[in-house]
Amino acid sequence: MQFAGQDAYGRSVTATAPTFRARLYALLRYSDPTPGARQVRVAHLIVLGIGLFAVILLSVDELDGQIRHVLRIVIWTVTFLFLIEYLARLWVAPEAPHYDQDSETGARLRWAVSIQGLIGLLAILPAFMFFGGYGITGSDAASVFCILWIMKVGLHAPAFSTLFRVMSNERAPIASVLILFAILLMMAATAAHIFERVRQPEQFGSLPNAMWWAVVTLTTTGYGDVVPLTLGGRLVGSLLMISGIAVLALMTGVLATGFAQEERRREYLRVWEQVARVPLFASLGVVTLSEIVGKLRTRYYPARITVVRRGDAGDSMFFISSGEVEVRLPNGGSVRLGEGAFFGEMALLERQPRTASVATTKPTTLLVLYASDFYEIASHIPKLAEAVEVEAKRRREENLERQTAGRR
Ligand code: CMP
Repeated sequence: MQFAGQDAYGRSVTATAPTFRARLYALLRYSDPTPGARQVRVAHLIVLGIGLFAVILLSVDELDGQIRHVLRIVIWTVTFLFLIEYLARLWVAPEAPHYDQDSETGARLRWAVSIQGLIGLLAILPAFMFFGGYGITGSDAASVFCILWIMKVGLHAPAFSTLFRVMSNERAPIASVLILFAILLMMAATAAHIFERVRQPEQFGSLPNAMWWAVVTLTTTGYGDVVPLTLGGRLVGSLLMISGIAVLALMTGVLATGFAQEERRREYLRVWEQVARVPLFASLGVVTLSEIVGKLRTRYYPARITVVRRGDAGDSMFFISSGEVEVRLPNGGSVRLGEGAFFGEMALLERQPRTASVATTKPTTLLVLYASDFYEIASHIPKLAEAVEVEAKRRREENLERQTAGRR
């Protein structure tokens, strides 16, 4: 359906209303920030929670028949809801922007073989088992549900995609650590096999058995089911334990650095998207802008949250990328600042406490620039510093005028 009308400048525009499928796609998207999509996600998690709870309870053999019957009904209801969800996701797949080059069937096929599609299919697998004549009989079936459904919880974790990206970015150092792990493992298993096989033929008589001991020791798990008894074996064991700590520390370091880098990269991209809305940055060249973007941080505030309190020390200034704030002036009046405006600059310029309190009036995204970065930027982008100073001066004069008017 098309709507014709005029925009804010009086130009005629036509807009296409989103179809039902497009709206459903937006509702079902895991990353959609709208309240409707959030409610769908919460409902999905509640259904999952109920399903998992029923599955876990069903694995308790002591439960009486009546309760087991109710639990089975709950599990089938949850499976049925997942089936509807799967079909809905399959239907809306062509709406996904990354499938826009594909035909409708192609998009659905690609979604079906994606991680999301496969997890969705596995979650409804028990339904096929049912139609195939297998009922939910005992704890074995319950464990199958547990594994299949817990994977669906993973779809709600935004950090999962980050995890995959980190693994992919850091594959070279991760591979190096794993290779080091394998080398240590094989060397220790072989040495322990040589030293221990005569005294403990059952535990160290073969290389696979010795490798089991080496894995348990190298990962610092130490079950204690197999223990070297000869001097040589114990020496190997000691070295292996120390190496194990080093290898784990290396892996932790690689992953932690990868996560931190990924988070910085994402923040950088987020800020790039937001700075375009601040007119103060519009005239800056790409090089200057990229320098500023590296120093800005995005912060999301719900409505009615005080961002800056009058009299507090000022350690940062803020640019409004979306939303609105209210500046509560000392004389009792107030000023509203919208998208593209900035505040919190006066305390930084005058190195004095905050002159007013500032609170959000609606959900607002701010770009934060810390004082040290502000001074650094101001020193080598004079044009920007000047624009901020001019506005601060105007505000100071306005506040003075208001104060004098108030006294009269
Ligand atoms: P700062 O004093 O650091 O903290 C409060 C902020 O409110 C201040 O910086 C300005 O950015 C902002 N502010 C103060 N007075 C006005 C005004 N008259 N109009 C708009 N913003 C103001």
